Amino acid sequence: MVVRIGLIGCGGISREHISAYLKLKGKAEVVATADLVEERAMNAARAVGAETHYTDYRDILKRPDIDAVDICLPHHLHAKVAVEAAEAGKHILCEKPIARSLEEADSMIDAARRYGVKLMIAENWRFLSQVNVAKQVVENGELGTVFLVKSDLISFPRDLVSSGWKLYAEKVGGGVSIDSGIHNVDMVRWVIGEVKTVTAFTNRLIRTEITGEDTGCILFKHVSDAISVLALTWAARFSADREYPLKIYGSEGAFAWSAWDGYVVVYKDGKRRVIETKPFSESFKAEIEHFVTCIESDRTPLTCGEEARRDLQLVLAAYESAKTGKAVKV
Ligand SMILES: NC(=O)c1ccc[n+]([C@@H]2O[C@H](COP(=O)([O-])OP(=O)(O)OC[C@H]3O[C@@H](n4cnc5c(N)ncnc54)[C@H](O)[C@@H]3O)[C@@H](O)[C@H]2O)c1
Repeated sequence: MVVRIGLIGCGGISREHISAYLKLKGKAEVVATADLVEERAMNAARAVGAETHYTDYRDILKRPDIDAVDICLPHHLHAKVAVEAAEAGKHILCEKPIARSLEEADSMIDAARRYGVKLMIAENWRFLSQVNVAKQVVENGELGTVFLVKSDLISFPRDLVSSGWKLYAEKVGGGVSIDSGIHNVDMVRWVIGEVKTVTAFTNRLIRTEITGEDTGCILFKHVSDAISVLALTWAARFSADREYPLKIYGSEGAFAWSAWDGYVVVYKDGKRRVIETKPFSESFKAEIEHFVTCIESDRTPLTCGEEARRDLQLVLAAYESAKTGKAVKV
């Protein structure tokens, strides 16, 4: 079976999705694209080999020959378009974060359940081999008792202005924490385990063109009592050479991953073990392949609506903590 897909939103991230679809021929096929900007819809259709392109995504929802949609839209449109897609009987792959509020997230989860379609949030870090090695070494006990985790996202995205919508906290749902940081949130929760308390600080000292926060520091106390420190920024024009997105310290060893290198390192018994990993872009292929498999075999996606809702809840708790100055129990 080939899953027939309608790609909705043909901006930045759609290019990674398109590359993945090209590698998944025979399993998934994008048959139509849609973007408000016709040129983008047309270029995406050409790149992915789709038959048609539209400027109104509802033309995709009307087509009975389309099984699923891939939503690569701004955050304020996720819930609206996902609910309409569910009503039209389409399975849904939607980019992260699931939405801006728990109410929006619930409307998506409820609609998917009511209309019997899959809802998967495209949290590609779950499909990174780096992250899966980290999970393995934590779960097989190699690191002993994990007591401290550090996860950074140090960046200076240049598309905040050109995208338009990323300027506005109302459309994004906040700033760096809900947009980029939700990857780190999902990763540490997946690898280290559930979180019980959230504390955070945020600021916007540098990127005054946006209305959300450009910098955030989130602290998690996990159920295990391990502590995670997440340092997130969109304001770092200059960053150190190696900013590891994940470092895990345990009683018996440590783990370190540098996102942009093809390896991770496990430190144990005075030795350094290097484990080769797949390129970052492979995560998008693995993510879409998983979505297709879940449709074909009627399985719940790893990053289903409920999982992504929990990540959102933790980010919203961080915002609450930053506002009130208090730790938030979750
Ligand atoms: N997984 C990742 O690593 C990653 C990276 C970047 C972005 N994202 C996510 O992808 C999503 C899109 O982000 P982006 O960076 O591609 O944004 P973008 O602004 O580059 O692209 C969004 C596209 O949607 C189109 N659009 C807007 N309203 C529309 C409508 N009503 N109908 C049809 N098209 C419409 C815009 O014209 C634009 O081309 C977001 O959820 C974002 O968080 C994920």
